[in-house]
Amino acid sequence: MTMSLLRTVILVWVISFKLVFAFQDDLLKTCSQSGFCHRNRQYAKNIRESKKLHYLIDEDSLEFNTNTHNLRGYILKSVQANKKETKVSLPFTLDFIDGDKVRFRLDEDRSNSLDQPGINSRRYNCTETWAFGPDYTPLKQKATLKPPTVFNKKYTLIAGKFTVLLDPNNFRIEVQYNSKDVLTVNADNLLNFEHYRTIEENFENMNEEEEAFNMFKDSFADSKLDTIPFGPESVALDFKFHDISNLYGIPEHADSFKLRDTSKSDPYRLYNVDVFQYNLNSTMPMYGAVPLVIGIEDSMSIGLFWVNPADTWVDIRYEETGSSTHWMSESGIIDFIIIVHETPKLVTESYVNITGKPMLPLLPSIGYHQCRWNYNDEKDILSVDSLMDKWQIPYDFLWLDLEYTDQKRYFTWKPDAFPEPLRMLRKLYTTGRNLVTLIDPHIKTNYHISDSILSAGVAVKNAIQKPFFGQCWPGESLWIDTFSPLANKVWSKFVQTFVSYATNLYIWNDMNEPSIFDGPETTAPKDLIHHEGFEERAVHNLYGLTVHQATYDSYIDMNPNKRPFILTRAFFSGSQRTAATWTGDNLANWGYLQLSIPMILSQNIAGMPVAGADIAGFFGNPDDELLIRWYQAGMWYPFFRAHAHLDTKRREPYLFNEPTRSIVTQYIKLRYQLLPTFYTAFHDSHTRGVPIMNPMIYEHPRVPAFYDLDDQFYLGEQGILVKPVTTPGTDNVSVTFPAGIFYDLHTLKTAHVGLLETKIVPSPIHALPAYIEGGHIITKKEQYRRSSKLMQYDPYTLVIAPNVEGKATGRLYIDDGETFSYKEGQYLDIEMEYTRQALTGKVINKFESSDFNTVTIDKVIIAKYPGEQFGDSCTLQSNGAERDIKIVHDVHSHVVKNLGIKVGEDWKILL
Ligand SMILES: *[C@@H]1O[C@H](CO)[C@@H](O)[C@H](O)[C@H]1NC(C)=O
Ligand SMILES: *[C@@H]1O[C@H](CO)[C@@H](O)[C@H](O)[C@H]1NC(C)=O
Ligand SMILES: *[C@@H]1O[C@H](CO)[C@@H](O)[C@H](O)[C@H]1NC(C)=O
Ligand SMILES: *[C@@H]1O[C@H](CO)[C@@H](O)[C@H](O)[C@H]1NC(C)=O
Repeated sequence: MTMSLLRTVILVWVISFKLVFAFQDDLLKTCSQSGFCHRNRQYAKNIRESKKLHYLIDEDSLEFNTNTHNLRGYILKSVQANKKETKVSLPFTLDFIDGDKVRFRLDEDRSNSLDQPGINSRRYNCTETWAFGPDYTPLKQKATLKPPTVFNKKYTLIAGKFTVLLDPNNFRIEVQYNSKDVLTVNADNLLNFEHYRTIEENFENMNEEEEAFNMFKDSFADSKLDTIPFGPESVALDFKFHDISNLYGIPEHADSFKLRDTSKSDPYRLYNVDVFQYNLNSTMPMYGAVPLVIGIEDSMSIGLFWVNPADTWVDIRYEETGSSTHWMSESGIIDFIIIVHETPKLVTESYVNITGKPMLPLLPSIGYHQCRWNYNDEKDILSVDSLMDKWQIPYDFLWLDLEYTDQKRYFTWKPDAFPEPLRMLRKLYTTGRNLVTLIDPHIKTNYHISDSILSAGVAVKNAIQKPFFGQCWPGESLWIDTFSPLANKVWSKFVQTFVSYATNLYIWNDMNEPSIFDGPETTAPKDLIHHEGFEERAVHNLYGLTVHQATYDSYIDMNPNKRPFILTRAFFSGSQRTAATWTGDNLANWGYLQLSIPMILSQNIAGMPVAGADIAGFFGNPDDELLIRWYQAGMWYPFFRAHAHLDTKRREPYLFNEPTRSIVTQYIKLRYQLLPTFYTAFHDSHTRGVPIMNPMIYEHPRVPAFYDLDDQFYLGEQGILVKPVTTPGTDNVSVTFPAGIFYDLHTLKTAHVGLLETKIVPSPIHALPAYIEGGHIITKKEQYRRSSKLMQYDPYTLVIAPNVEGKATGRLYIDDGETFSYKEGQYLDIEMEYTRQALTGKVINKFESSDFNTVTIDKVIIAKYPGEQFGDSCTLQSNGAERDIKIVHDVHSHVVKNLGIKVGEDWKILL
């Protein structure tokens, strides 16, 4: 064998090894290969040494509007090169909004910059059109401005609890809240605004701390063709969080919940890309991006929302006196919103007040989803359907991946496999079940759908204004430009024609980063052109959102009162309003199970709660132990879906060996029993942005033990604490209990009483450590049914977990689960309260008239707790009548049955 042949063999072996087991790293740029990341990190290093100030506030330009309380002015950038000084004026605005936020924007006037027909020379400033909720109107807050004095050399803005200081001799914004320094903008002088210049003028436009690396060309192997029409245009800025050394957020990354210091690695990157078999413990970019960091310490939480959808890198540094974040975006404007609150939960709530509340999902969509690439034909689908029933495994959704289409042409069915889709959909509908089909934004060329897109002129264009063609699943494809209102109309027609004949057919928008097989970094070339002439470079991270939003809107146009279900892989701030998401192409191994939890926690605090991970790993074949552990963990994912790759063995749960089948079934059933509690949690998320998979630190922000803890969590505010087992061969795990009393979720046996404590608890293979925290009342429906729809009129069971004082409260939210009539007040909201003397149910809101009002609460289970006193009977008062009922004493609880309380009425049980 010659050397070169040997090398080829090794190379091929290495490549195929990589393809099977890990992400191919050389597909993506590192920071040092990415022009603007490289330049800004270098700039940061150099400016920290030179300590020179190149930006200052132009005092003469300051204008404070006493009606709108808005401060505007210019920041002057000075460039010293060739013994010459150039000044660039950059307009800024500063506003106080909603009582808890400061917003700052910095732009550049580029109207005369570049006269290239079809390309918009403006810096993209329309992110909010997509990212902010349609109902959001910022509430301007009153502010006063005091000019500098001999004693205070800074401009002082005061607005409510905020004091903001502006140094005229530098650009720096010091934010104080309740007179305490909380955040400083540009503390390390890393502001770098690469203003417009031509290649000829470049060197007169660079300060000595700057490097010229890849300003007008891209040397990365797969993006050498990037035309970079504006040259360098990145924006970068640093933020110092005072006295805060715990930062979270900026999903999506396969990494710990608490962000790591990145001084010795690449920064976290936000750039929506298709990363099949992504790396673990990595700052690499993934499918979605939410540019929100949350700092948490004791009684102060700060959110920083960087409103920019371009390729963005974020460096994190933990320092002695706090922490610092350095944001670098390839283009666009500087636009950020600082949110300050006493608790992190309020920061998330405030953030979703801007970007829109997470949708209240279609109730069946919070049940179990059975997916695989692929169910082959109608017979296959119907056989899975009936086998699930035969084995009494509840489920709500079946999924059809790519292969259901006629030769990968979306909006068509493969004729021989699905000759009568309606027949199949109707059959599923008889048990209230639904079907999801995959429809992606890449459209195969040469059929009626792509033809209509071309003739309407709404395909994404290339750098020379012609429709862009690239490779994806169908081979040569074009991409619909859903930034365009006309494209939305065109898309809406396709969607409506495809789904309108069935009421239980929904859509999964995959590959919408977009994924382009022959594109640089597996995605779109940055010089593609979208609606209004904006470059892909400027809007990249928003594209996926425009696609799933268009799909959602198509459903709403068709039927304004019915909640659609849409799954998206790519997401951005605001995606939570209309779609669920998941963590993409994971592997069937323990590492991916472990990291699915911090990943979903990060999405939950960043306002994107309806998230899940493919159970039990998309690639590869999980063994029985991993299957069991993954279902035990996965039943707590807000979005609960099993999925598997084409090359894997079939794994519908009824195929598992015993005892795997029984254990897995038991946990799917537990999810269904807890649906009323889950749905109430989804409602809290919808109204207040409360995380559904809820980090420990969100419920106990002052407990340092929880800052790093990301392998246990709560279900919303429902008081259920879960510690999934995510390592093999584990008979016991450690659980950190907060102070209080905790009962085993399954038996109600007391598991912990007293102060914060880490305990070893048994976790044999059939057991999932989960607890109810004293002080909560949870609701269940205990009867097995085939789907959630068939459970809707089943009776409720209340489980009372008293705290150490013998008290508990709970809430139950009920609506029809499928329409928007809850917005007109058609829902039940019930508050329950338990004391040693009585348990009461109070109806806060009820349906005008509905069968839901008369569903019953039949059973109450009260966990045994220290100091309690229980007789053998209690008295139920409801509907003006009184009746004595027996109390049955169980090992760890007291049980009252046959109550027959109507859920739409007030009631009281005297104990
Ligand atoms: C974006 O910039 C243009 C031009 O300066 C301006 O007219 C428009 O109002 C800006 N849009 C937003 C949302 O700020
Ligand atoms: C990821 O990091 C965690 C925590 O440091 C470690 O336990 C795990 O083994 C790491 N996983 C991989 C695949 O490196
Ligand atoms: C979110 O908006 C609602 C309604 O405007 C308001 O009542 C609530 O206080 C806001 N939340 C936060 C944390 O600012
Ligand atoms: C936990 O499990 C391990 C391994 O099975 C065992 O050696 C150890 O004694 C157990 N510890 C406790 C506290 O049960």
